[in-house]
Amino acid sequence: MRHIMVLNPKGGCGKSTLATNIASYFVSQGAAVALADYDPQRSSLDWLARRPDNRPAIAGVAGYESGLRHAPRNADFIIIDAPARSHGKELVDLVNHAETIVVPVLPSTIDIQATANFLEELKGVSKIGRKAAKIGTVANRVRDNTLIFDDLDEYLTKVRVPYIAALREAQNYVRAYTRGLGIFELPEYLAWPDWDEWEPLTAWLRSVRSQP
Ligand SMILES: Nc1ncnc2c1ncn2[C@@H]1O[C@H](COP(=O)(O)OP(=O)(O)O)[C@@H](O)[C@H]1O
Ligand SMILES: [Mg+2]
Repeated sequence: MRHIMVLNPKGGCGKSTLATNIASYFVSQGAAVALADYDPQRSSLDWLARRPDNRPAIAGVAGYESGLRHAPRNADFIIIDAPARSHGKELVDLVNHAETIVVPVLPSTIDIQATANFLEELKGVSKIGRKAAKIGTVANRVRDNTLIFDDLDEYLTKVRVPYIAALREAQNYVRAYTRGLGIFELPEYLAWPDWDEWEPLTAWLRSVRSQP
């Protein structure tokens, strides 16, 4: 069983968007998937409630209430949507649940600075120091040819954490969430640019590089 956590204490950077899409990706590949929502805002569980019956089922776990205690034993993947503002002991407890951590970052100075502080804090978490969990960053809501994306790209390239993918800002994410789907479940003619951008992320998640 693999535990993949989407984590960044900064609100609004795309944790729930990435968590729901990662869950949808693996279930579309035929894996048994659970989605554990540690955020009392419940965005991932609300997405699951919108999921049509004719799509492969994903088990929902109310992590913010009872952790992974009720997670299905037979899941191949548990995708964990982390809450905002996790620091200190709470952060250590969260990280202890995961072997793989995906950190989404927005092209904004506030978000880049907050993420820099957070990655510094993560370095001090013993599980990360021991490399018992692997971290990768993902630029999210990117608009090409903007100065702030250049800044983000430069920051993510030079910080000593693997920079896995850059995802554009796209209405497809909003559309997919509303329908309880991932972008992989939208029609190809709409979603192919996003499928292309996800390729490095899904390849990393499948590879041993993202596993301790
Ligand atoms: N790549 C994207 N393109 C367009 N909208 C996005 C994208 N990623 C996230 N969003 C939107 O940004 C908002 C915050 O994203 P969300 O996943 O809820 O962040 P978090 O869970 O970190 O608070 C939501 O309205 C979501 O639909
Ligand atoms: Mg969220």
